[in-house]
Amino acid sequence: MKTITKAVIPAAGLGTRFLPATKAMPKEMLPVVDKPAIQYVVEEAVASGLDDVIMIIGRNKNALANHFDRVTELEIALERKGDHSKLANVNHSNDLADIHFVRQGDPLGLGHAVLRARKHVGHEPFAVLLGDDLIDDRDELLTPMIEQCQKREATIIALMEVPAESISMYGCAAVEPTDEPGVVRVTGLVEKPSAADAPSNLAIIGRYVLRPEIFDVLEETAPGKGGEIQLTDALQVLAADASIAGGVYGVIFDGRRYDTGDRLDYIKSVIQLALAREDLGADLAPWVKELGARL
Ligand code: UTP
Repeated sequence: MKTITKAVIPAAGLGTRFLPATKAMPKEMLPVVDKPAIQYVVEEAVASGLDDVIMIIGRNKNALANHFDRVTELEIALERKGDHSKLANVNHSNDLADIHFVRQGDPLGLGHAVLRARKHVGHEPFAVLLGDDLIDDRDELLTPMIEQCQKREATIIALMEVPAESISMYGCAAVEPTDEPGVVRVTGLVEKPSAADAPSNLAIIGRYVLRPEIFDVLEETAPGKGGEIQLTDALQVLAADASIAGGVYGVIFDGRRYDTGDRLDYIKSVIQLALAREDLGADLAPWVKELGARL
């Protein structure tokens, strides 16, 4: 199988859970410590060998495109001040990857956003990383998923155990074991089921390694939950018929993951990632402890 080099990053959602912060700015640009969430996601793709990035953008697109572009006046000012460390930080995002921007005119759903990448991806497997979903870089997820895709020649999704009462916020997978621990065969998928209807407590999280056959399926996928074209519905078609593209497998993730489009998870991500930082952690930790003791 061809080496996987392409990453599709959908970042065209409306971000309604985070209004009014996201009224004039995409939620993927919310800062997590001192970098926008989207930069962590691009860095994760690059760390897994994916340096051909297709970012799906919507309204307020300029902030995203500008972040990965050069800002000459800033460079000149920092150069003049001799502030080379800040200059390196500013330039880091420009040099990360080869990033192409594709518009999703209307936010018609995640499936529709992925379909917008069809022309650029062509006929090869590719990864999808949701632009507001952060995987802590101390925990591995995307690289093992890519390995599974190559080994099984199948679609791979990331799954995470969640409390039963939270499953209605996610796509949910019915699974059976494989001969490998932490890898399951997905026998069915359902988008945002009620706790009573959920086939498991395994939620789909924002990393996928897809095969190009998904595009034909997405073309035929009618709007589902919320009137949106759901990626989960297309994946369900692939899970139900392994003859289309080898079926669907799940890699179960038990590391640290933050949904930065959710306000509570966003706050947790800022605190956790700042605590892990060399330049901030030592000063922040006693404050967090003291705060905890006062609550
Ligand atoms: P979400 O469902 O979290 O995004 O989509 P949303 O619709 O912006 O969320 P809320 O509920 O209104 O706050 C997951 C990812 O898919 C992208 C989003 O930008 C996010 O990265 N997405 C979603 C698109 O690119 N296009 C869409 O039509 C929908």
